[in-house]
Amino acid sequence: MIVTKSYEDSCQRAAELIEAAVLANPQAKLGLATGGTPLPIYRRLIEDCKAGKISFAKVRTVNLDEYCGLNGSNTQSYRWFMDHNLFNEIDIDKTNTYVPSGLGDLAANCREVDKKVRENGVPELQLLGIGNNGHIGFNEAADLLHTETHIEQLTESTIAANARFFDKSEDVPTQAITMGLSSILAAKSIVLVATGAAKAAAIRGLLCNDEVTTQNPSTFLKLHPNATIIIDAALATAAGYEN
Ligand code: GLP
Repeated sequence: MIVTKSYEDSCQRAAELIEAAVLANPQAKLGLATGGTPLPIYRRLIEDCKAGKISFAKVRTVNLDEYCGLNGSNTQSYRWFMDHNLFNEIDIDKTNTYVPSGLGDLAANCREVDKKVRENGVPELQLLGIGNNGHIGFNEAADLLHTETHIEQLTESTIAANARFFDKSEDVPTQAITMGLSSILAAKSIVLVATGAAKAAAIRGLLCNDEVTTQNPSTFLKLHPNATIIIDAALATAAGYEN
């Protein structure tokens, strides 16, 4: 648990943890996330790679999730996001990057994600953001959660939150392929970064008690032996977290 002065500092800390994993094992497998939160983290990785401080030449990556129905050349797809916000700007071999596919045979795609997570070792580190309702990946708050990769029906609140990236809210896909809880928790270490008052209730559930509930999927991170939650002081206050 790390409380920083600012979101910028949180991103710096997360980038340092990712780089430490890569320095310790240049062939590390990294689990990566999309959304607004990780963008400054990726910018730091790009800067450090361009400055020659770190190389991703042998790194392998696997992403958490992808919208159903969008192909990788669609600017709203998570493949496009990863290519343009990270992969195209660092020295990674693109053939070693994996983003789930939300097109075609979805059942086969789900099985492929779980294979990618586990083949030749599980991720050294899984980076996570968090949804307003506590979702991780696209595992929505619900009575029942899934352990393995599956197709998720997105909630109205998630569709509304993600609408900011689309021209029209009707354009936001209503389904996504996402790693399940055990696929996420399989990583050797987890780094979750959160900022903003909208995340306060979810963070309160994650940090302020010892309860695990499917109504806040992030609470399952309490079962992981090496999960680091990084939030800024403003969010800690909003969530009622006392350091
Ligand atoms: C989406 C992604 C999540 C992400 C969440 C929060 O639902 N599937 O991986 O954590 O959005 O996004 P943001 O960081 O933009 O708040």
